[in-house]
Amino acid sequence: MNVELAEKVYWVGYVDWDIRDFHGYWTERGSTYNSYLILDEKIALVDTVKAPFAEHLLGSISPLLDGRKPDYIICNHAEPDHSGSLPKVLQAYPQAELVCDSKCQGMLAHYYDTSGWNFKIVAEGDVLSLGKRQIKFIETPMVHWPESMFTFLEPDGILFSMDAFGQHLASEGRFDDEVDPVIALDEAKIYFANIVMLYGKPIAKVLGKAGDLGIKLIAPSHGVMWRSHIDKIVSAYADWVLCKATDKVLVVYDTMWGSTDMMAQAIADGVREGGAKAKVIRIRESHITEVATEALDAAVLAFGSPTLNMTLMPQMAAALTYLKGLRPVGKAGQAFGSYGWGKGGPEEVHKYLHEGIKCEILGDPIRSQFVPDAGKLDECRAAGRAMAAKALEMARA
Ligand code: FEO
Repeated sequence: MNVELAEKVYWVGYVDWDIRDFHGYWTERGSTYNSYLILDEKIALVDTVKAPFAEHLLGSISPLLDGRKPDYIICNHAEPDHSGSLPKVLQAYPQAELVCDSKCQGMLAHYYDTSGWNFKIVAEGDVLSLGKRQIKFIETPMVHWPESMFTFLEPDGILFSMDAFGQHLASEGRFDDEVDPVIALDEAKIYFANIVMLYGKPIAKVLGKAGDLGIKLIAPSHGVMWRSHIDKIVSAYADWVLCKATDKVLVVYDTMWGSTDMMAQAIADGVREGGAKAKVIRIRESHITEVATEALDAAVLAFGSPTLNMTLMPQMAAALTYLKGLRPVGKAGQAFGSYGWGKGGPEEVHKYLHEGIKCEILGDPIRSQFVPDAGKLDECRAAGRAMAAKALEMARA
């Protein structure tokens, strides 16, 4: 159902209750693809929805248009979950100008046959008048693609922020105060960690730019719009862009016959003895989405794998490869794990933490040949206490 977020400005997106896998990200609560229609002397549609829902979008805007046609279709981001319906929308309204930046024009041409599209290219600071309202364009490169752009509607103070401030959250409510605000913030954190954590620096720059705008409502491309908790989401982003550490040690492990499990539990006990918090994830029973989310505000990453065929376990390799790409910054790291007759598991984990994620390494890999004895478990607990001391120091910094 369409929702009016300001006079003659409507949410016309699609709620996708069913999606659970968003290119590898486990979207437990579904998602939405948000599109917005602005009716003025000129009519603008801001972003579209994923391709399978194009007809739904056309059906949503048709009664609002009341016989008129959109003058502008604004594309803030070329990724197909937002641009996928452009071919059908432009087929329905061929007179409309497709408003985007030059990089976006190039990207769209890779996805679609854009030869008949009527492009209007905009750049940072350009203003498009709709009549009583104006749209200002703010380039936001690498938030999270090179062509990404925000649009700001004046005088309403609405920031169409594309993926930034988004959440994969399907809900009946369209605003942050119509859902449980804890869930909205939690999903925004999961989204940040799994989609944009790598781009903390460009996002920090954008936060600086957007801070001066006088924002009254943030309308992202996924999830609920922020109107009652703008301060909370902006302040959370200020911490997330820095991957700000809390007093948490993230212990992630896999195990074959329980040896690395015993080491993980001993490390976690040591962390608690040292006065910090331990979050323990057994990777084969969990999902890489949770690992990325927990890594965002962890101080120390303690990752462990037994040795399987002279290397680490495959699910652990997947988690570490995912984190290597997302690159949580400023973390300390410690590898651990068991082996039988050949080395490989803990050493490979160490390499990922050191060379891939660029952790500050706290020590050589802690290794146990077959089952850890009492002395080895004492060593794990002592390492856990050292990790706690490091986490508390990092959280205070
Ligand atoms: Fe929601 Fe980067 O697309």
